[in-house]
Amino acid sequence: MDKIRVVGGAELNGTIPISGAKNAALPLMIASLLTEETLTLDNVPRLADVALLKRILSNHGVDQSVDGKRLGQNGLAGETLHLTAGNIVDTTAPYELVSKMRASFWVIGPLLARMREAKVSLPGGCAIGTRPVDFFIQALRDLGADIDIDAGYVVARAPKGLIGNRVVFPKVTVGATHVTLMAAALARGETVIENAAREPEIVDLAACLVKMGARISGAGTSTIHVDGVERLSGARHAVVADRIEAGTYAMAVAMTGGDVLLEGATEDILGTPIRVLTDVGAEITPTNAGIRIRRNGAGISAVDVTTEPFPGFPTDLQAQLMALVSKARGTSHIRETIFENRFMHVQELARLGADIHLDGQVATITGVDKLKGAQVMATDLRASVSLVIAGLAAEGETFINRVYHLDRGFERIEDKLGACGATIERIAG
Ligand code: UD1
Repeated sequence: MDKIRVVGGAELNGTIPISGAKNAALPLMIASLLTEETLTLDNVPRLADVALLKRILSNHGVDQSVDGKRLGQNGLAGETLHLTAGNIVDTTAPYELVSKMRASFWVIGPLLARMREAKVSLPGGCAIGTRPVDFFIQALRDLGADIDIDAGYVVARAPKGLIGNRVVFPKVTVGATHVTLMAAALARGETVIENAAREPEIVDLAACLVKMGARISGAGTSTIHVDGVERLSGARHAVVADRIEAGTYAMAVAMTGGDVLLEGATEDILGTPIRVLTDVGAEITPTNAGIRIRRNGAGISAVDVTTEPFPGFPTDLQAQLMALVSKARGTSHIRETIFENRFMHVQELARLGADIHLDGQVATITGVDKLKGAQVMATDLRASVSLVIAGLAAEGETFINRVYHLDRGFERIEDKLGACGATIERIAG
């Protein structure tokens, strides 16, 4: 299994191109199931999760072709994917595929809406809590589907098609909001989604669905209205920039010091992390080309942060923030409210010398003067990148094992950080 070797101590200086968002690319690709015409997606990141979803979609009969395979002027530009679900040959998403990535469960929405039936394995994905699917099931039942759980599969049927309704989520949920949006787009009549997720990736999916002919208003607010249409058409759409990737590199720069332009990142998608980074002591300047982040001289300040749905501080940046404040002056508190078991990075950061005390959902981090390189283990996608940025600010060598987690969500991390002066390499194993 590959590892990453990082030698800490260097500042980061230069430009990092921000890729298209994994968490937008996945639902956008799934939206191709809603129409027999071609959906073309630009700026798709080259990631293991995207490759896995391509396999899942081809299992349903989606024809795919890829442009932009060769490196152009900008060697880090994303792919252009053409997806055509002219003929859906299978409405079953099997365990072998769905268990590897939770988001693949989301095919249930478009399959049910278009084909009136879907049989989808209960999901797997990052081991960061129980992550049930009750909100999806309730929402699809609200839209008129009959749903049974049978031998590890969710079996959904709507022989006469889905019917618009009021869907009220008990808790903000990104995945079930995506699925309800896609399902409601082809349902008969109006759907109102209340307590909807407001993440930029929801706004991006809604924008693409509107290009395909869907009638949606209110995406980006807590109440989304969808007026169902009989059919959707093909469209072309570019995936929004990855705010989690941008936030991760911003934290790396705040940790090591330096001056980096996060090319393509915008203030509106980053939101609260910009305020937190400013509180920590970084200087953030939005420019036309992206967001510039600098930290010179002065140390890192401690902060108290709670993870929340957008526009609050994202759970997907919690581990990275913990790495950052492990070297702060003073004591920080980080409360995790989205996933109950998302602290697996704590013991790995401790191996690098971080002083972190966990009490339920709250981590108390007492800043230390220095971290020291060590062997660590990547445990999930975001946790693994927190170890990379901690390694960049640690003395000596850090080896991060099990990097397949990183490849699920961070495109060419060694190249991007290496170009800014980091000593980082992949060791094939
Ligand atoms: C998405 C993101 C993930 C991010 C998360 C929260 C993608 C591919 N993944 O995950 O990176 O960390 O949003 O911002 O976009 N829940 C239930 N029942 C359900 C569904 C969810 O109880 O049926 C709970 C979850 O366990 C969790 C909370 O709701 O506690 C929010 O989860 P959700 O927003 O649905 O996360 P994902 O869509 O899986």
